[in-house]
Amino acid sequence: MPTYQNLLYEESGPIARITINRPDVLNALNRATIEELAGAVEEAGRGADIRAVILTGAGEKAFVAGADIRELSTLDAIAARKFARRGQHVFHQIAWLGKPVIAAVNGYALGGGCELALACHIRIGSTKARLGQPEVKLGVIPGWGGTQRLPRLVGLGRALEIMLSGDPIGADEALRIGLLNRVVEADQLLPTCEQLAAKIAEQGPVAIRLTIDSAQRGLDGTLTNGTLLEADAFGLAASTADWREGTAAFLEKRKAAFRGE
Ligand code: COA
Repeated sequence: MPTYQNLLYEESGPIARITINRPDVLNALNRATIEELAGAVEEAGRGADIRAVILTGAGEKAFVAGADIRELSTLDAIAARKFARRGQHVFHQIAWLGKPVIAAVNGYALGGGCELALACHIRIGSTKARLGQPEVKLGVIPGWGGTQRLPRLVGLGRALEIMLSGDPIGADEALRIGLLNRVVEADQLLPTCEQLAAKIAEQGPVAIRLTIDSAQRGLDGTLTNGTLLEADAFGLAASTADWREGTAAFLEKRKAAFRGE
C-alpha cells in the first residue's frame, strides 16, 4: 500500500475511508494533497472487495477549508488553468469511480472543500458543517467544478446566491436546500456514514455502478437521451450474474451473494 503524507487511507471490510489530514491548515488542498487524493481514490477503485468509500477531514473543525490559498496566491493564468483542470480531473475521478463515495462533512467545507463534497455521491453533515463558495471574497472563482455541480444540485438561484455572496451556510440550511442529504450530531457522523456505506455494500455492485453512472450521465443531457441510456444500462445489468443471483435469491427467500460480475 502506498503511504501518504497529507491523508489517511484505511480499509475496513468493504469500506475504504479517506481522511484529508492537514488539520493545521483546516485540511486545505494543496497540489501535493490533490495528487495523493488521486492515488487514494484510485486505490479504493482498484480494491476488488471495496464497495463504498467515505471521504472526510481530520480534526474537529474542517472537512476541507478550500484550495490552499498560499498556493493560489502565486498562480499565473497558465498555472491556474492547469491547477483547475487537475483538480477537476481528480474530482471527476471521484464522481465516476463506479463505487459510491459518501462525504462525511465534519465542519467547514468551503471553496474546493464544498466542490469536493459536491463531487461525492452522497453528503452527510454534522451539525457543525458549514458549506460555501467564498472564492469571490478573494477575487477568485470556483475552479474545481463548483459553478457546474452546485447549480445542478441546488438550482441556479440558490447556487448563485451562495457563490456570489461568498457567505457559508450552516448545516440546517444546507439540508433544507438539498446540499446535505442528512445532518447528525458530530459523534454520529462517521457511524451514520459507515452504516449507509455498509447498506450500499450489500447491494449488487454492478447495479450500483450502473445506477450512479446512469443518473449522472442523464444530468449531462436531455430526458430522452437519459431514459434511453437508462434502458441500455438496464439491459446491461440483465446480462450480469448479479442480476441472476439477486432475482433468484429473492424468489428462493435467501440473502443474495453478489460477486460484482
Ligand atoms: N488555505 C490555506 N490555509 C488555510 C486555508 C486555506 N484555504 N483555510 C485555513 N487556512 C489556515 C489559516 O491560514 C490558519 O493558518 P495559521 O494558523 O498559520 O494562521 C489555519 O488554517 C487556521 O485557520 P483560521 O483562519 O485561523 O481559523 P478560523 O477558525 O479563524 O477560521 C475559516 C476558519 C475556515 C473561516 C477561515 O480559515 C477561512 O476563511 N479560510 C479560507 C476559506 C476559503 O476562502 N476557502 C476558499 C479558498 S479558494
